[in-house]
Amino acid sequence: MTKLTKEAFTTISLEGNGAPFQNPLEDQITASKKAEPCILVIFGATGDLTSRKLLPALYNLSREGQLPSHFACVGFARRPKDHAKFRQEMHDAISNFSRVKPIEETLWHSFTNQIFYHQSNFDDDHGYDALRKFLDDLDKKFDTKGNRVFYLSTQPSFFPTIIQKLGEHHLIYDTTKEKKKWSRVIIEKPFGHDYGSAVELQNFVMNHLGENQIYRIDHYLGKETVQNLMVFRFANSIFESFWNNQYIDHIQITVGEEIGIGTRGTFFEEAGIIRDIVQNHMMQLLSLVAMEPPSSLDADAIRDEKVKVLQAIRPVDLKHFNEFVVRGQYGPGFIDGKNVNGYREERNVDHNSPIETYTAIQLFIDNWRWANVPFYLRAGKRLPKRATEIAVVFKKVPGILFSKGKQKLEQNVLAIRIQPDEGISLRINCKVPGTSSPIQPVKMDFRYGSYFGLTPPEAYERLIYDCMLGDGTLFARGDEVLASWKFISPILNRWHESAPSDFPNYKSGSWGPKAADAMLERDGRAWRLI
Ligand code: BG6
Repeated sequence: MTKLTKEAFTTISLEGNGAPFQNPLEDQITASKKAEPCILVIFGATGDLTSRKLLPALYNLSREGQLPSHFACVGFARRPKDHAKFRQEMHDAISNFSRVKPIEETLWHSFTNQIFYHQSNFDDDHGYDALRKFLDDLDKKFDTKGNRVFYLSTQPSFFPTIIQKLGEHHLIYDTTKEKKKWSRVIIEKPFGHDYGSAVELQNFVMNHLGENQIYRIDHYLGKETVQNLMVFRFANSIFESFWNNQYIDHIQITVGEEIGIGTRGTFFEEAGIIRDIVQNHMMQLLSLVAMEPPSSLDADAIRDEKVKVLQAIRPVDLKHFNEFVVRGQYGPGFIDGKNVNGYREERNVDHNSPIETYTAIQLFIDNWRWANVPFYLRAGKRLPKRATEIAVVFKKVPGILFSKGKQKLEQNVLAIRIQPDEGISLRINCKVPGTSSPIQPVKMDFRYGSYFGLTPPEAYERLIYDCMLGDGTLFARGDEVLASWKFISPILNRWHESAPSDFPNYKSGSWGPKAADAMLERDGRAWRLI
């Protein structure tokens, strides 16, 4: 791993004021590297992602002095517009969406001169010829040395065309011949539509690029709290001894969002929550929480361990499918006291849409460490709140001493809050002071915000920066993506065979369909109240 900042490791105590301890990974922390000169070309530059995430990320990298000293950014898209118009739109986008506001006008003044727009269709040879000449000119102007990052943020169906055209027009370099300059391609998710199409895309991409030129982005991997999962597990000796099926009863992973699908109806009708969130973000969380310690912090050593977890997931039992997989779709309801539409009333959504906006899955990882430990995953739109959490629920204590009579002991829970209110809490049982000695669960709570007092950088900042450094640790490798699809595809096929008869089956602002609660109740468990 290239740049593990000191802040990510230094002193953490649950109380927030304990004595600093020496982090065992400290030797591994490499000095902050500087990204090499390069030009970043964003395909699909008029889309939402560019304005909400990518340009704000570049602006903040520039603000923090992390952009290469010789740098330019070119937006590539189909709509006609000139550089000035694109710059103005990006100014407005950064003003709205940057994590640090207001925009610093003096910084913007120099930054804006590094931003350009190039209009072309994605399959137009002339457009790519013109792009190559334009980039060569920018190299001369900004001394960017021929290095390129191509960010594919278009509809996924354009990925193969763009990669092919980049190759044909010598914008992607052959790594076996070209040693002086480099070209890398960031590919947005979803990588494929199902297992078959992901294999096809993977083969296509590998015919045009070396694995070390491909950066399959999953922005969850760029989140500070997700990166901290490995530090938390492997830089603390206390957790490893009970991180297994002897002590852990089950694990719950929740990715809940209050928002609906907004303006993304067309995209969501093709994706559904399982392709949008589960196949990528949740599978990454699952693999980080369940992986074995890697032999080093090298990208491949980490990814080798993650892929083993994904490959060990037991295929869904199709005979008892409904016991393990639940799908849901939101109907009208209330969010923050306001009336909101059901999914089928959203823009660009079919009035009889069978697309799921919620799913809950029970799965098992068939390896020594996790044998018989259920993992419960749930993801949904229009839930009561935005909350991403991994909860490790420990086994019950034997009911010999304290569980007699009315006293019911809560199980210990280690909750890792990925967002918001990033932090970690441990639920333990404690004697209430006094003579009657009732036992009550209490929480030890660590909060990043109050301890470090910093706004963590946006995931995209870290990931764009890592790509410019050539560090693929926080990107998904081809075999990880395929292993994840291998588990997900049979679920999609089964859903495809039979349309849901009960949609919409949960109200906006509720925690999802009843069947998801029933799934845990059957096992004598319940979803955590978040
Ligand atoms: C994206 C999904 O990948 O992640 C969106 O396409 C979702 O549907 C978003 O809202 C959630 O990201 P975050 O960083 O807000 O948790």
